[in-house]
Amino acid sequence: MEVIIKENYEELSKFAASMISEQIEKKPDTVLGLATGSTPLGTYRELIKLYKENKIDFSKVVSFNLDEYVNLLPEHEQSYQYFMKENFFNHINIIPENYFLPDGMAKNIPQSCVEYENNIEAHGGIDIQILGIGSNGHIAFNEPGSSLGSRTRVKTLSKSTIEDNSRFFENIDEVPRYAITMGIGTILDSRLLILLASGENKAEAIAKTIEGPITAMVPATVVQLHPKVTIVIDTEAASKLKGKYLSEPAKLLLN
Ligand code: GLP
Repeated sequence: MEVIIKENYEELSKFAASMISEQIEKKPDTVLGLATGSTPLGTYRELIKLYKENKIDFSKVVSFNLDEYVNLLPEHEQSYQYFMKENFFNHINIIPENYFLPDGMAKNIPQSCVEYENNIEAHGGIDIQILGIGSNGHIAFNEPGSSLGSRTRVKTLSKSTIEDNSRFFENIDEVPRYAITMGIGTILDSRLLILLASGENKAEAIAKTIEGPITAMVPATVVQLHPKVTIVIDTEAASKLKGKYLSEPAKLLLN
């Protein structure tokens, strides 16, 4: 597990974007696992910038998003499909047939979850999975208590997640109660995980994720089981860590 502490959100975003662009350069048909929330927004902005400077080509890239609300039309401003188009897909040359999100409007949700898993597999699995983290330690919508081997399925959002996400809706009653989310097992199948966190309100969850025991009560702690994970955080999110960590990957410092 590599922990990289950056000075601020901008540096964190640049670093995450550079990891993704290096991967796409090496493998143009990379399969990306993408996340929503405010944390990856800076990374998407940096990637858009690199695309506009002709430094990155998304024409062969495939992507799968982690999660989507149930019963929110794709045109709804708070649907994750809308979010991804507005903040990323509409600004790069990814082919619309090549990006996928769970279908929160599916008639048969359990079946659509199985199909989502099969589709990931049919594309050869996820090369890089971007993750944010909830203040309660959730990843995607795998709330505390989620099975560590879980696959894509419907989850009920916890009270704290509904409260956290209410800032995006007119009032708390409009926040959906259910979401489809990749499972923890699905996430762990990715070849590389990049977990991003910024700000003081993530410090507690980050300290538990990096230095605490693995527990379903803090789903992000499962990243400790993954053979290849990079955690990129800013100094505020790192403020409750006890260990000493670097600001650059060890391999760069060795060069
Ligand atoms: C939502 C998403 C998560 C995300 C979390 C944190 O619940 N489902 O994938 O990591 O919010 O969001 P933010 O980055 O806005 O703090």
